[in-house]
Amino acid sequence: MPKDTVTIIDNATGKQAEFPVKRGSHGPAVIDIATLNKELGMFTLDPGFLSTASCESAITFIDGDKGILLYRGYPIDQLAEHSDFLEVCYLLYYGRLPSKKEYNHFSHMIMRHTMVHEGLRDFYHGFRRDAHPMAVMVGVVGALSAFYHDSLDIYEPRSREISAHRLIAKMPTIAAWAYRYSRGEPFPYPRNDLGYAENFLYMMFSYPTEEYRVNPVAAKAMDLISTLHAAHEQNASTSTVRLAGSSQANPFASVSAGVGALWGPAHGGANEAVIKMLEQIGDVKNIPRFLDRARDPKDNFRLMGFGHRVYKNYDPRAKIIRQAAGDVLREMKVNDPLFDIAMKLEEIALKDEYFIERKLYPNVDFYSGIIQRAIGIPTSMFTVIFTIGRTIGWISQWAEMITEKVQRIGRPRQLYIGEKTRDYVPISKR
Ligand code: ACO
Repeated sequence: MPKDTVTIIDNATGKQAEFPVKRGSHGPAVIDIATLNKELGMFTLDPGFLSTASCESAITFIDGDKGILLYRGYPIDQLAEHSDFLEVCYLLYYGRLPSKKEYNHFSHMIMRHTMVHEGLRDFYHGFRRDAHPMAVMVGVVGALSAFYHDSLDIYEPRSREISAHRLIAKMPTIAAWAYRYSRGEPFPYPRNDLGYAENFLYMMFSYPTEEYRVNPVAAKAMDLISTLHAAHEQNASTSTVRLAGSSQANPFASVSAGVGALWGPAHGGANEAVIKMLEQIGDVKNIPRFLDRARDPKDNFRLMGFGHRVYKNYDPRAKIIRQAAGDVLREMKVNDPLFDIAMKLEEIALKDEYFIERKLYPNVDFYSGIIQRAIGIPTSMFTVIFTIGRTIGWISQWAEMITEKVQRIGRPRQLYIGEKTRDYVPISKR
């Protein structure tokens, strides 16, 4: 039987060393090169982590070639069809599906943590009204640790659990208030008799002056969006949360770092960028012109909502959300010309040599904005909505990391390409 190892030879010095290969339950094996520096005096260089696994994790699995996404082993399409967001939160955090009793207890716990400290309300008034809601999110989520000291003991399981519950429960309140503040409107308190998504829409759109009924189609669609965005392996924001948490920073501070990382248009900000792009295209007849730009290496324009580091096939979430977008528009009797442009753009791009060659398919962000527009959510809130769904992924990954046997601060190395050592020259001699 051949040994499950890989030998690395430094051809310059002739030194060589053997490294163990680790195999997970699915997916490619990894070479454990933790002792590379000790054995060969070298580091590896992999900007953008193209071939580097940063940790072991049992939470999510993606097969990018087959277009498969599993949450704790369950395929995303089965969860999207049969589960709901709070059950998915339980699954991701605790590692198994809850019994009926556990589900009821968990939902009850979450819906009783939805209020935020009154002092946190005052924070909003320090922001400019025209601030991007994600800017407000970064600030307010970061401030949570200033209000919830009692759950900051990261090595105490119950304390971690309370922080997780607080984050899942309070994120919709914080998000909805970011929107209401931008409009100069009153901040509705959460209503614990409503479902999770329903309560969020209530806080987004209700007024104290009249009764507000949440449209069940909109609530179901919001719940689906959160389910599909809940967790996604070691993406940029999740890796950010892990890296921040590896310094033993508290969970609120670590998650706020993730909110910042999510904001960028190459990550969670893409849903907002997709709508802006579709508006810019304006008409199906303009699609070829934008495709020419996307193909042009001298033009930095990219088809937003297309392409993914891991999926080299249709993103399974995009398939579900595309179908849901059609259903929501039909059920809510919304005629959105951007949906027609999006579908035509997808149809043309998927037949285009450039996109075929590079295996560029629509990702989850391509259609999620269409649904949100139909519900009445403004474009600037799309990434904020992503934050609500992804919080469970962040906090589950953080909790997984904190309970690993060996605790190490995340500390990448570098290939130094700066000046060689030189002597200081006094200013009078320069
Ligand atoms: N439009 C046009 N060309 C593209 C696109 C796109 N959307 N995405 C990738 N390409 C091209 C690149 O120009 C490159 O071409 P080249 O080989 O001729 O240089 C090739 O495809 C590979 O692209 P990379 O940038 O190397 O791929 P990477 O894995 O680093 O990037 C990313 C992935 C960031 C998602 C990229 O596809 C992109 O920018 N997409 C648009 C933004 C987007 O939709 N982001 C959301 C991602 S999903 C999420 O975070 C929830």
